[in-house]
Amino acid sequence: MAEHTKSAKLTIDGKDYELPIFSPSAGPDVIDIRKLYAQAGVFTYDPGFTSTAACDSTITFIDGDKGELLHRGYSIDELASKSHYLEVCYLLLYGELPSPAQLEDFESRVTNHTMIHEQMINFFRGFRRDAHPMAVMVGVVGAMSAFYHDSTDINDPWQREVASIRLIAKMPTVAAMAYKYSVGQPFVYPRNELDYASNFLRMCFAVPAEDYEVNPILSRAMDRIFTLHADHEQNASTSTVRLASSSSANPFACIAAGIACLWGPAHGGANQACLEMLNEIGTPDRIPEFIARAKDKNDPFRLMGFGHRVYKNFDPRATVMKESADEVLELLGVENNPILQVAKELEAAALADPYFTEKKLFPNVDFYSGIILEAMGFPTSMFTPIFAVARTVGWISQWKEQISDPQLKIGRPRQLYQGSTRRPYQDIENR
Ligand code: CMC
Repeated sequence: MAEHTKSAKLTIDGKDYELPIFSPSAGPDVIDIRKLYAQAGVFTYDPGFTSTAACDSTITFIDGDKGELLHRGYSIDELASKSHYLEVCYLLLYGELPSPAQLEDFESRVTNHTMIHEQMINFFRGFRRDAHPMAVMVGVVGAMSAFYHDSTDINDPWQREVASIRLIAKMPTVAAMAYKYSVGQPFVYPRNELDYASNFLRMCFAVPAEDYEVNPILSRAMDRIFTLHADHEQNASTSTVRLASSSSANPFACIAAGIACLWGPAHGGANQACLEMLNEIGTPDRIPEFIARAKDKNDPFRLMGFGHRVYKNFDPRATVMKESADEVLELLGVENNPILQVAKELEAAALADPYFTEKKLFPNVDFYSGIILEAMGFPTSMFTPIFAVARTVGWISQWKEQISDPQLKIGRPRQLYQGSTRRPYQDIENR
């Protein structure tokens, strides 16, 4: 970390404490409070981490006011239009765009790890047929630590590298198998001559009775969905991965923890919840009713796919996703999809309502992604697993960065205790 050039003064009970201020390459300055408790005997209080930087990082930067997302300095709009998912994976993992030879080598390493250990099939069979694919993914990815023991030593850089490649390569296979199991079809093994997105589509939609021709436009749309979800700075699931990893847990266990966190509807589960909401609205005439519910303080309902902790302007991923939705639906001949119509009118109605504009609530990445995925043939339960496939590289890149940081400490937040102070134990007959 660079030397600090500024400092803040904190006065408690008439005593002054000087706190260093670090200036980042982009974004707001950061007050260093690491020695505060030792010097002043106080904690800071920030549930939800709304004002707290929990680490330093060089991977992803978000300017929430501008609606800008950069990976290693490159904007998501450019990456989504000019690059592709595996190149973005390389960029996130290693810090620079690859040369043609580096990309070829990386793609071949990923491709050669796409199969999972055959015995892992037994894990899938142990789940109920109606298990949510995210439940299967949490379990199977956690179980990978038992199958790939030769890449769980986090202190060995080579093992870290192998674990990273394994996770990125095997995650589509695991997600596709979870899907096949849920619909009662045989598992389809990966085909290494296909690119990452096409291989995933084939593993989901091919059946032994009939070959599956991957439509290049759908494959491009799938790749773009992966690219748009690849990383997003210190979001809840990434912070979960970092916290799990701070105890030196193995990478498969840490990523399983990330998948568990992603599942929640306030985070990655919002794509499923959003499409379910759009279907429930059904027709544009019901939009005012749902807008009124979202504004009602006594109703827990929120517009899913709307709002973001960091973006106080358009989520740049949502803009690309909306264009993609138009393209994919036109290709599939369903441009008059009634749910897309509901989504567009709902967005327009919300953006014309002061409740949403004053609170700076805009559509996020999850608002249009479900419409594309449904048009491709995925059930809503597969939306969040697809997010998990894409985000794996982000989790892994952040995990690798954390492990290589010499300042690494176990994550151990403190609390504002509001419970009873010490009191004597009461024997049961006296209660
Ligand atoms: N609909 C209606 N009101 C909302 C919404 C919404 N979607 N989102 C926030 N608000 C209101 C909220 O009620 C609060 O109002 P008030 O100040 O009067 O109490 C204000 O806006 C601020 O909300 P918050 O909950 O304090 O904001 P947060 O930063 O803690 O939450 C969020 C961010 C994404 C969890 C939230 O906006 C939300 O629940 N959105 C719906 C779920 C969703 O789409 N999640 C996907 C996020 S992007 C992808 C990802 O992270 O995986």
